Amino acid sequence: MCHWYILIFCVCVYQLIEKLHEKWSPVKKKPYPAMYSSVFGGIILDPAMMVIPIDDHMVHRGHGVFDTGVILDGYLYELDAHLDRFLRSASKARITLPFPRSTLRSILVQLTAASQCKEGTLRYWLSAGPGNFLLSPAKCPTSAFYAVVIADVVSQCKSGVKVITSTIPMKAPQFATMKNVNYLPNVLSIMEAEDEGAYASIWVDDDGFIAEGPNVNVAFITNDKELILPSFDKILSGCTAKRLLELAPKLVEQGHLKSVKTANLTVMEAKSAAEMMYIGSTLPILPIIMWDEQPIGDGKVGDLTMALSDLLWHDMVAGPNTHRICVPY
Ligand SMILES: Cc1ncc(COP(=O)(O)O)c(C=O)c1O
Repeated sequence: MCHWYILIFCVCVYQLIEKLHEKWSPVKKKPYPAMYSSVFGGIILDPAMMVIPIDDHMVHRGHGVFDTGVILDGYLYELDAHLDRFLRSASKARITLPFPRSTLRSILVQLTAASQCKEGTLRYWLSAGPGNFLLSPAKCPTSAFYAVVIADVVSQCKSGVKVITSTIPMKAPQFATMKNVNYLPNVLSIMEAEDEGAYASIWVDDDGFIAEGPNVNVAFITNDKELILPSFDKILSGCTAKRLLELAPKLVEQGHLKSVKTANLTVMEAKSAAEMMYIGSTLPILPIIMWDEQPIGDGKVGDLTMALSDLLWHDMVAGPNTHRICVPY
């Protein structure tokens, strides 16, 4: 009787694994070469096994934070800036770390090495962890850390896109300033833009100032050649935008830009800018040429936008090694 039970159990497990593999077996080049899960305590190379528990509070209550960085030429760009923001988000979401920062960092570097992926993204999540289906995480014994490497092409964006003003309400500053997994407003906002044939959207805050895009920051070049980024007090402080603010003064020294600053910008001021762009890890800069069917400047990709793009791109492929972490493959 007992042997029969074990046999049936093994057949069921085999069938389950077969079912999980069904989606992946015809796929030649797997898009997710490696995942780390603190629940398994190791790295998983089989995409069919890259799962997280359904009783994880991040799954059913959205109690989790995340971050994303780029892998380019076998280097992790701005890993420490992303990790710092990840820890700030975790603290705001009241999630304690399962390991010290140095261990999280080492897992991310080792995971990228195990993936053998030299170009793509590294995405990671910190969750209140598995435990139960209640609202309070009090009975979740330990937080969980998950990370995945996604193979993808990372290249400079050279053509311009259309954007619209979002009608989806933006998140309150407490939630917009931390990168938590509650991205429903962001998802609805990009869907709304796509419905209208635009690439993405622009959020305007309750005071009428420009905020950000659904998963990107935004920047403007005025007719006086000032580079202006909306202040970060009500939006996510983008690692790419922050790095751009460090690099852009070089264009001021060279006489191409007059100044570089963060400020509050009204819709009217923003719409009369000479150039406009999205800024984000995977872009790193995307020129915007049309907003609500109105051209920005002359409606063409701006020279200063591309100069800023070149500056960031150069930093990504050949910048100092404090900003590019070499992966030991
Ligand atoms: C809402 C939001 N704003 C801005 C950004 C840009 O941040 P980063 O440059 O760190 O990718 C992101 C992406 O993470 C985002 O989700």
